[in-house]
Amino acid sequence: MCGIVGFVGQREAAPILLDGLSRLEYRGYDSAGVAVVSPQKGIDVRKAKGRLQVLSDMLHGGADMQGRIGIGHTRWATHGAPNDVNSHPHLSEGGKFAVIHNGIIENYVEIKEFLINQGVHFRSETDTEVVAQLLEFYYNECHDFFDAVGRVLRRIEGAYALGMLCADCPDRIIAARKDAPLLIGYGEGENFIASDVTALLPYTREVTYMEDGEVAVLTTDGVAVYDALQQRIAKERCHIDWEVSSAEKGGYPHFMLKEIFEQPEALRRAISPRLKGGKVVFEDMKLTAEQIRAFSRVYIVACGSSYHVGMLGKYTLEHLTRRSVEVCLASEFRYSDPIVDDHTLVIVISQSGETLDTMAALREAKARGAYILSIVNVVGSSIARESDDVLYTWAGPEIAVATTKAYSTQLAVLDMIGLAFGEALGTVDGAEYAQVVSELEKLPEKMETVLAHHEDIQKFASEHFNHNSIFFIGRNLDYALGLEGSLKLKEISYIHSEAYASGELKHGTISLIEEGTLVVALGTYDKLFDKAMSNVVEVKARGADVLALTTESHRAEMEKTVSNVLTVPDTAAMLLPSLGVVPLQLFAYYVALQRGCDIDKPRNLAKSVTVE
Ligand code: AGP
Repeated sequence: MCGIVGFVGQREAAPILLDGLSRLEYRGYDSAGVAVVSPQKGIDVRKAKGRLQVLSDMLHGGADMQGRIGIGHTRWATHGAPNDVNSHPHLSEGGKFAVIHNGIIENYVEIKEFLINQGVHFRSETDTEVVAQLLEFYYNECHDFFDAVGRVLRRIEGAYALGMLCADCPDRIIAARKDAPLLIGYGEGENFIASDVTALLPYTREVTYMEDGEVAVLTTDGVAVYDALQQRIAKERCHIDWEVSSAEKGGYPHFMLKEIFEQPEALRRAISPRLKGGKVVFEDMKLTAEQIRAFSRVYIVACGSSYHVGMLGKYTLEHLTRRSVEVCLASEFRYSDPIVDDHTLVIVISQSGETLDTMAALREAKARGAYILSIVNVVGSSIARESDDVLYTWAGPEIAVATTKAYSTQLAVLDMIGLAFGEALGTVDGAEYAQVVSELEKLPEKMETVLAHHEDIQKFASEHFNHNSIFFIGRNLDYALGLEGSLKLKEISYIHSEAYASGELKHGTISLIEEGTLVVALGTYDKLFDKAMSNVVEVKARGADVLALTTESHRAEMEKTVSNVLTVPDTAAMLLPSLGVVPLQLFAYYVALQRGCDIDKPRNLAKSVTVE
């Protein structure tokens, strides 16, 4: 949440900052701002409520600001309404310091009161302004930028990625991190900070991820990183091999549509290197078969769509390993006094690798002795770094707020974990193992055939985009799939939607079904097809308009009752959700398109949720 970027070099900073922010806008889009500093004019701050384009137009693409060092911010509001005053960068009262911030300063009220008592005047309602004001307060005492930063960091509590400028030191940016993502990019005679590597792809691929407690001083000539004790430390650099084009729309009207269509390729990258000679082989996993056998408890912990992947994983892992698996929402897990010890495995799932709730749950589990195996998309992200083991999904950058290709690759990796664990425990049936491996190999191709029918879904969406409420029903794997279909729809189209286990309908929810209610009935799971049909009949009898999703082999049967039927190719039961999710993603996309929604940047949301 909130995107931050900083630049120091020989070029004009503002156009680079605006370009970097345009690649970070998915992190927050309530307002945007930039600050540049020059020896002659001091700090110049410009900011505007609304999308980045508003600011960019106001500054003529950055041409209106002069200075070769600067910081920029795109905001997801926490403290204070999204308006010009609350936008970052925040200036100290005397105009000496400008600050951008991602995170929350938890003790800001107390610091604000202290500073007000010292005669400081505040302009905004934000927690961040205290950092700028406190910097100036301490600087007036010590007259040293770095020292003042150290004093501020010792005083503030909470989570932060900070970029700071000082008018008296117009050659440097100081950056600091605690519990919010921040990385340093190294260029030729220029250096950068950013919340996310996508901001820097056109400028550099050499980066360092900052750790909690670290402070960095960036100048044109180099970057010095210090630990929490202000000792200079050496940092390892990583090379990022993502292409610039992978973070651009490439002719698609929206990132979401592009990412939906990228799924077969993303699946190939996630699956192929891990299948060898008919076996799942995780060369990138440290866990041994002996360790797997020693676990007495398994949790899957995640948020949002990643949690939905976990729900599907519960079904498959329990089936393949005959061990009980508990799936927990990360935000609940950490406060639930979880039963975790050193015989516990916690599988953490996160696309961004930066979700604060998930990170906090990971730390809670680790502190209690659990082994952490994470499934992450963003290489080098905080969750990846703090896990004992990490399996990357290799989905490439995902820009649209609504996740699609990350979900699919997470699911494939979790399915493969199920197979590998089942083999290690000797609980998986050999014939089933062979069938699933062979179907995993065909999965990308089968997904391409589902995508080829996107126009059928577009047509259906164009006839059904005006509902106030839509229900998704299904059993077992289809229920977990329905949760994801429902989240996708409400997230981007703002239509109220619920997903129910079909068997639960008669226990209350069926009272909501009336003439014309749209019900998306999921009946892909062969074993429960007849049960799914009974529920379809029940809702139809009460006047529901049904869109059914089933497999090719059940199409004819379904068409006897339902006129709108979508199908996916037959495959191994546990892989059906991987195909079934695609029509649901497309349905949500086309409904949102018809309703004129801002699909890639839905209201109130952000891609990477780094607040609690
Ligand atoms: C899904 O479309 C969402 N944008 C959201 O639910 C997301 O899956 C959740 O915030 C978790 O994010 P993560 O995978 O990056 O941890």
